[in-house]
Amino acid sequence: MTTESIKAKNNGLLYAMEDEISSHLNQETTKSILTLIAAAGKNNALGKDNDLIWHISNDLKRFKRLTSGHAIIMGRKTFESMPKALPNRTNIVLTNKKGFKAEGGIVVHSIEAALDLVKEDTQPFIIGGGEIYRLFMDLCDRIELTRVHHDFEADVYFPEIDLSQWKEVACEDVPATDDQPYNYSFITYEKQ
Ligand SMILES: NC(=O)c1ccc[n+]([C@@H]2O[C@H](COP(=O)([O-])OP(=O)(O)OC[C@H]3O[C@@H](n4cnc5c(N)ncnc54)[C@H](OP(=O)(O)O)[C@@H]3O)[C@@H](O)[C@H]2O)c1
Repeated sequence: MTTESIKAKNNGLLYAMEDEISSHLNQETTKSILTLIAAAGKNNALGKDNDLIWHISNDLKRFKRLTSGHAIIMGRKTFESMPKALPNRTNIVLTNKKGFKAEGGIVVHSIEAALDLVKEDTQPFIIGGGEIYRLFMDLCDRIELTRVHHDFEADVYFPEIDLSQWKEVACEDVPATDDQPYNYSFITYEKQ
């Protein structure tokens, strides 16, 4: 092998390595953060009679601010509990019912199909309810939990957060007000 051909080979190797590193960096910067967002009571209460239990407008505003412009994945029961698909978001509805139509939403029949639809989104959200949180919790990178500091009667509950897997990275406590009787906290957890 001549000196020139060794140099050319080394250059080729260097370019290939640079390409690989840059594609790896691009993948890292565009990685999407699958985020579970929920509001749960002290006893993990989530809902009753296919409806929410409390009304905290500050929490609903935060939900809207965080999820707007993104894909939201929900169970068929949660979709049916809402008056209509949530605007400015791609509503994805999971059901086993073949032929189910979700006006303003996209129907899927598996976790994989739901995740495939959101792979270009930088921060898709899992918005409930109880069954869907259980299905997706282990797949998520972040949890945005509004913890309402009160025990409620419910028929659907939030799964226990395994603190050996999840780390609390932010917490904002919000006191009760005249028109809203519960203290609550916005807590962010990230996968360890
Ligand atoms: N507090 C909160 O943050 C919050 C948020 C959202 C909802 N909620 C409350 O939670 C309650 C609803 O929760 P839920 O647990 O009863 O129902 P859900 O999680 O909203 O929906 C359950 C449905 O999802 C579908 N599903 C589940 N696993 C599936 C799979 N592997 N493949 C395909 N489809 C699947 C099934 O639909 P089919 O039966 O059609 O097959 C199942 O019946 C309501 O009270 C709601 O108000 C609370």
